[in-house]
Amino acid sequence: VDEAPEVGAELRRITVLFLDLVGSTELATRLEPEQYRDVLLRYQRRAVETIERFGGHIAQYLGDGILAYFGYPRAHEDDPIRAVHAGLELVADPGAGDGRIAVRAGIHTGPVVAGSVGAGQRREQLALGPTPNVAARVQAIAPPNTVAVTGAVARLVDGFFELTPLGPTPIRGLPEPIELFRPVRVTGQRTRFELARTRGLTALVGRRTELGLLEERFAAAASGRGRAVLIAADAGLGKSRLVEELRQRTEGHRWIAAGGSPYHQGTPFHPVIDLVHQLLELTPSDPAEKRVAQLTERVRALDAAADSVGLLGALLGLPPEAGYQTVEDTPQRTKQRALAAIIDLADRVAAASPLVIVVEDLHWVDPSTLELLDGLVGRVTGLPILLLMTARPAFVPSWEHRARLMQITLDPLDPGEITEMIGRVAGRTALPPAVVAALAGRSDGVPLFAEELTRAVLETGDDLAEVAIPSSLADSFRSRLDQLDGTGKTVAAAAVWGPEAPAAALAALTHLEPAVLEGRLSQLVDSDILVRRGIGDQARYSFRHALLQETAYGSLLPTTRRGLHRQIGRLMVEQYPELSAAHPEIAAHHHHEAGDLAEALGLWETAGRRSAGRFANVEALAHFDRALECLPAFADPGERARRELALRTAIAPVLVVTRGYGAAEVRQAFDRALELCQSLGGAPELFWTLWGLAAFYQARGPIARLVTVADQMLKEAEGGDPQLGIEAHFALGAAQLMRGDYRQAEVVLERGIAPCRVDPTLATKPLPHGAVTGVNLLMNLAVVKTARGDLAGGSAAAAEGLAIARGVGNPFVLAAALVYHGWRGVLAAEVPAVEAAADEALARSAEIPFWATWAAALRGWARGRGGEVETGLQAIENAVTGLEQAGVRTVTPMLLSLAADLLLEAGQAEAGLRVTERALTAADLTGARAWDAELGRLRGELTRLGNGARADAAESILRQALELARSQGAELTEQRTEAALRQLAG
Ligand SMILES: Nc1ncnc2c1ncn2[C@@H]1O[C@H](COP(=O)(O)OP(=O)(O)OP(=O)(O)O)[C@@H](O)[C@H]1O
Ligand SMILES: [Mg+2]
Repeated sequence: VDEAPEVGAELRRITVLFLDLVGSTELATRLEPEQYRDVLLRYQRRAVETIERFGGHIAQYLGDGILAYFGYPRAHEDDPIRAVHAGLELVADPGAGDGRIAVRAGIHTGPVVAGSVGAGQRREQLALGPTPNVAARVQAIAPPNTVAVTGAVARLVDGFFELTPLGPTPIRGLPEPIELFRPVRVTGQRTRFELARTRGLTALVGRRTELGLLEERFAAAASGRGRAVLIAADAGLGKSRLVEELRQRTEGHRWIAAGGSPYHQGTPFHPVIDLVHQLLELTPSDPAEKRVAQLTERVRALDAAADSVGLLGALLGLPPEAGYQTVEDTPQRTKQRALAAIIDLADRVAAASPLVIVVEDLHWVDPSTLELLDGLVGRVTGLPILLLMTARPAFVPSWEHRARLMQITLDPLDPGEITEMIGRVAGRTALPPAVVAALAGRSDGVPLFAEELTRAVLETGDDLAEVAIPSSLADSFRSRLDQLDGTGKTVAAAAVWGPEAPAAALAALTHLEPAVLEGRLSQLVDSDILVRRGIGDQARYSFRHALLQETAYGSLLPTTRRGLHRQIGRLMVEQYPELSAAHPEIAAHHHHEAGDLAEALGLWETAGRRSAGRFANVEALAHFDRALECLPAFADPGERARRELALRTAIAPVLVVTRGYGAAEVRQAFDRALELCQSLGGAPELFWTLWGLAAFYQARGPIARLVTVADQMLKEAEGGDPQLGIEAHFALGAAQLMRGDYRQAEVVLERGIAPCRVDPTLATKPLPHGAVTGVNLLMNLAVVKTARGDLAGGSAAAAEGLAIARGVGNPFVLAAALVYHGWRGVLAAEVPAVEAAADEALARSAEIPFWATWAAALRGWARGRGGEVETGLQAIENAVTGLEQAGVRTVTPMLLSLAADLLLEAGQAEAGLRVTERALTAADLTGARAWDAELGRLRGELTRLGNGARADAAESILRQALELARSQGAELTEQRTEAALRQLAG
């Protein structure tokens, strides 16, 4: 029985702050022991208070040093920023007063293994790894009363703090010197968005409806019918972006904007103070006297109540000595009067021209500000003011005037919009479509994720969409997962399961009581970490965002991860047989990740065969590739070779379909299979391996090799399964046809079809590769009979083959049959039949490049015969190039003979002759001589057309063609050549 996994320890990226006293030995000798102790205690108290206020965790006291974590046990979306804030405050004032002590701080961010250490009552939350040591060493380098941070930290806080580079510095324990920086002061950028705005925003995508609503509200406010609007949505969905867009569109109007901040949640009126400064055009950095004078002046100019100066002066924290009269009242009433004064002033300012008041991020706003906003929501209705607010869903206004609030909820962008965004972020870099698709998938419709992931891909320069989650996002996901205590095991199990984890499976994995588990899951759903689908026993759980799952998964220690994968792999096979039958790749994945490769191989192979059976070829290849990775699980070389051979023989035909017959990968696959067959001393797979090789040589040439392989197939098939005999005859017949031996081809193909006349089921039976025995044979026979001059026999064979092909429902088989039907039609000069066959083949073979290309050439010929000569020629040229790129070389003479035929019809002798030359050269390359006689006839006729005076040259070419046609048994060509000779004579 498996133990429920302990998720006590995890992998995390955290920010470590190391703070130390400078010269403590010297201090200890200089001060009285009592005094020293007092200084030390005050320093420690101040450090603890500051670090905790910024959400840090005191991990250890090391002498006079203090080691603090930001990001563990509880993460925040902005831990590095918090650490720097704390560091700057502490070096500015270490708590002992009057400069008696100096401190310094070092900050580094990096991966750690975090978990509880110790036993019994003495358990500590510790982060292990080099990150804390680096922080300590960086601290030791920092000049007294400064903070030093590593480059890793600098990247994450740049823009929020002014940073002075300290240059590359060697750090003991690290192989290379690292860049250090000194944060000097805050820049005043409140949020990531404000920073992004200074660096340039992505052009707006979508959000037309929402923007329309806002513009309408703005217009209404401008005409005196103000309104309060709250834009609510999760982090990164684009609340601030939408507000910014409205600002740009109402350029020239009065805007004042402020917002909550996680560091000032406890500071009363923080955003209000900011707003009042903007409303009255005061500068926060001006001396108090100047600000009081300006305040008084503005209040008078706006004709507001005189006590406003006293009320606002106090609210702004200006000392009365700077020149104003304080207001004497109870604190509660003073507050209310101050709020009333602000609303009144806003009203007066708006009288001149409409005013937009923006308050962002209400979830971080202090209660006093919220109280003011409540009042404002109630008042703006009749004023030329638009009050625009944003908040994450955690914020629920418990306001008296809630009913007057108009709420706009932002949904995730749709996949098309996200794709557009990714394109815009990538700018001039053209990302491959597969990467864009993967990025869009991981982004889950969240613009922020799309931006950050795309930038990460651009930065790494890889073509991989699988880049690690950027730190900027990882911290925010981590913080969401950390909100809830006691849910670690549940989250871990769901993260390893992947999408749609059934509640029962989670129960089995966590070993939690049903009621307890239910509670945890509900908590996770309520906190927007998991999404529930279905109810009761049927409930299934997925992560709200793929990236959230990746974060949870990524923080598991490898052993925990493997343990869970192993349990899930088994659970799937035992408890969810329908799931593992429908999707063997899921169970395969879990076994693979657990390191149970033998089980994984079997499941991957099943998954690959299933996908191939459904023509999901790309998936099939991916599954087979994973299966190949598992081969090392088999130590016995014989066993390993057998497993590999089974895989290779399954992979090769899929490669044929996706890459085309002539692709080098296809031959490699078959060669490898042949090698394995030989090492196993004649495995049953040998025949099918030869079959695959035959298909390869048939497309790529040399045709001589094809004949050899086909002979070998015939030998292997002797006396065995009649189906193998039929296939061997097909291969040999096709080889003879390609070689231009029509007589022999007819004999061999007829011999192959004979058993089917006795047992018709043989003709319709699918082969292990999905091809159908009778179809190929009959379609080759149709071409051969037609070339032999038996037009009726050719039509009959084609009809029979097509009927079987239509019955089996395999697009590959049908497309091939239709192309051969078209080839037959070209010989018989049945233009409409060729066009119909080509059209149907193209409709069926979109994903099968080989047959689609060939079909496109046939259609080009039919169109050319119908008068569109240029279009037809172009289509044929494209097909020649397309097939040659796919490594198919044996068909080129045929395609070019189609072009020569069109040129002859169009009376373009010179061009036609050039094409026949090319065709004959191509035939020389592979030995595909099937079209030589026909090409000779075309050459003769083209020569005659080009220069009537050289009738003797035309005649000698036609006579050669006639001779070749006779020797090959190509009677149709023979008849046509004879006709051409007669015309020449007559
Ligand atoms: N519709 C959009 N078109 C283009 N870019 C967008 C769009 N929406 C958001 N973005 C970009 O995505 C990023 C995240 O958006 P934004 O900062 O507005 O989210 P937010 O909802 O305000 O998040 P938070 O709650 O963290 O403040 C920003 O860089 C923004 O410019
Ligand atoms: Mg925002």
